[in-house]
Amino acid sequence: MRLPVRRAADPLPTGDDKVRAVRHMFDVIAPRYETVNALMAMGMDRGWRRACVHQLDLPPGSRVLDVACGTGDLCRQLAADGYRPTGVDLSRGMLARARTSAALVLGDALSSPLRSGAFDGAVSGFALRNVVDLSALFAELARVVRPGGRVSLLDMSQPDNPVLRAGHHLWTNYAVPAIGAVLSDAESYRYLPRSLAYLPPPAHMSELLRAAGFRAVERHALSGGITQLYVATRSETPAP
Ligand SMILES: C[S@@+](CC[C@H](N)C(=O)[O-])C[C@H]1O[C@@H](n2cnc3c(N)ncnc32)[C@H](O)[C@@H]1O
Repeated sequence: MRLPVRRAADPLPTGDDKVRAVRHMFDVIAPRYETVNALMAMGMDRGWRRACVHQLDLPPGSRVLDVACGTGDLCRQLAADGYRPTGVDLSRGMLARARTSAALVLGDALSSPLRSGAFDGAVSGFALRNVVDLSALFAELARVVRPGGRVSLLDMSQPDNPVLRAGHHLWTNYAVPAIGAVLSDAESYRYLPRSLAYLPPPAHMSELLRAAGFRAVERHALSGGITQLYVATRSETPAP
């Protein structure tokens, strides 16, 4: 299936259009996803994933859900750190290329068949921008993570420093689409920098997590702020 080509100035998709566009995009770019990812992050993504898993700070053997696990990068890091990972993703193409021994579930993370309180923790890598409703995602995380469990959520960001911000803008808006066009799919890698606009500012994001039933919400800026990590603990009491 070929979806209509979107121009740079087109509004970003929302609702069911966004679910279809995201699923299609990741099905298309899945074969080269990890190669392009490592190039566009200049290898720094390995450190970001290590930090994401490290921040969970759960006992060895804890069950951890990797939300929107893609090809399983975070599942592999979870297993390396002694956790028991399960991945969920809506792209069949990404799951088909996953290199992990984790249990994998094909489905929408916003309405998964997973049991309430089944996990001690949850992580996600570069997925927050891609869901249609962050409040719904955080509510679902609060449902599947047991009280006292931990979440650690990684995504792109923009540096506050003006010089870094300008460099980051050039890299994500020009270099990344060019790399994507050569190695993978031009349209998908033009969408990537634009998708940053889906992410609310840090204070709002933290508020959404608290409203969903998380406490001790922290935000860590990584690599000068080109990436951000939200860490939180599932409250013992349900969200109001
Ligand atoms: C940028 S990739 C990240 C993959 C992986 N987490 C990583 O760190 O490399 C985003 C992933 O989110 C998945 N995704 C987007 N929306 C989703 C949803 N609502 N439920 C499950 N997976 C979703 C996509 O299929 C894609 O595999």
